[in-house]
Amino acid sequence: MSRIAYVNGRYAPLHKAFVHVEDRGFQFADGVYEVFPVYCGHIVNCDWHMQRLAQSLLGLQIEWPISPDVLRAILMEVLRRNRIRDGGMIYLQITRGVAPRNHAFPGANVHPSLVIIARSVDMAARHLQAQTGVRIISVPDTRWARRDIKSVALLPNMLAKQEAAHAGASEALFVNDRGIVTECASSTFWMVSQDGRLLTHPLGHAILPGVTRRAVMVLAQEMGLEVAEEEFDLQKVITAREAFLTSATNFVMPAIQIDAKIIANGVPGPISIALRKAYIDKLKKFD
Ligand code: PDD
Repeated sequence: MSRIAYVNGRYAPLHKAFVHVEDRGFQFADGVYEVFPVYCGHIVNCDWHMQRLAQSLLGLQIEWPISPDVLRAILMEVLRRNRIRDGGMIYLQITRGVAPRNHAFPGANVHPSLVIIARSVDMAARHLQAQTGVRIISVPDTRWARRDIKSVALLPNMLAKQEAAHAGASEALFVNDRGIVTECASSTFWMVSQDGRLLTHPLGHAILPGVTRRAVMVLAQEMGLEVAEEEFDLQKVITAREAFLTSATNFVMPAIQIDAKIIANGVPGPISIALRKAYIDKLKKFD
């Protein structure tokens, strides 16, 4: 079965779906994106993803190409046409549109471009990976100053992830020029401190406000865990009781090694395992 994309008002097989060569997303990375996880046939945390999309668009002063309600209906239709049921993801990208190349914004007659694609995700493989935990490497955070905007300009993230892949690791952990751990190349970073608190970097311009982060924070509080949004450095991570990542398609993913240092005893910790289970149990309750 061929995959179906939605491009500016039309559904087309992926191999026939194209954007214009003068699309500003292509020339300037002048656009934003969202990754919506799909589990048990439902779009997970759809409202929160839509809220973040609204914030990203606002941050770059890009108009909605269509109304958010119509967009939601199209997301469901893309899911249906791609027959994604158990596990998957929808990728949505909105750029400022097509215009002759010129750095400043084009005139008001330029309409934002909208592309939506979807694909299945091998959830069984992710579950297996979560049982052993993943290894990560630390890298300098060389990104721009507005990381809260989910911009398609992902060069530093992509290079960091490639460095991780080259080192045989799954993720790269960004450390800023003050030695503070911010987040990973495509996920939120968390640690459990020696005093048993769950720590993650505070929201603001320095990190993406992860939707899974938001959901996991609610869950952790429901489970009676003490959660603190505070800054910490790599040294603190190395002495952590546990570490894990959160993202749309990884849910809660335990981390067991950072650079050469094994975290705790090198296996996923009890809090990471409990949070992953609670998160997935909650997703299943959609049915
Ligand atoms: N990445 N931080 C960064 C830099 C990210 O790119 C992501 C998500 C997250 C986690 O956000 P969420 O929980 O909303 O997925 C944190 C997506 C999945 C991606 O780029 O593919």
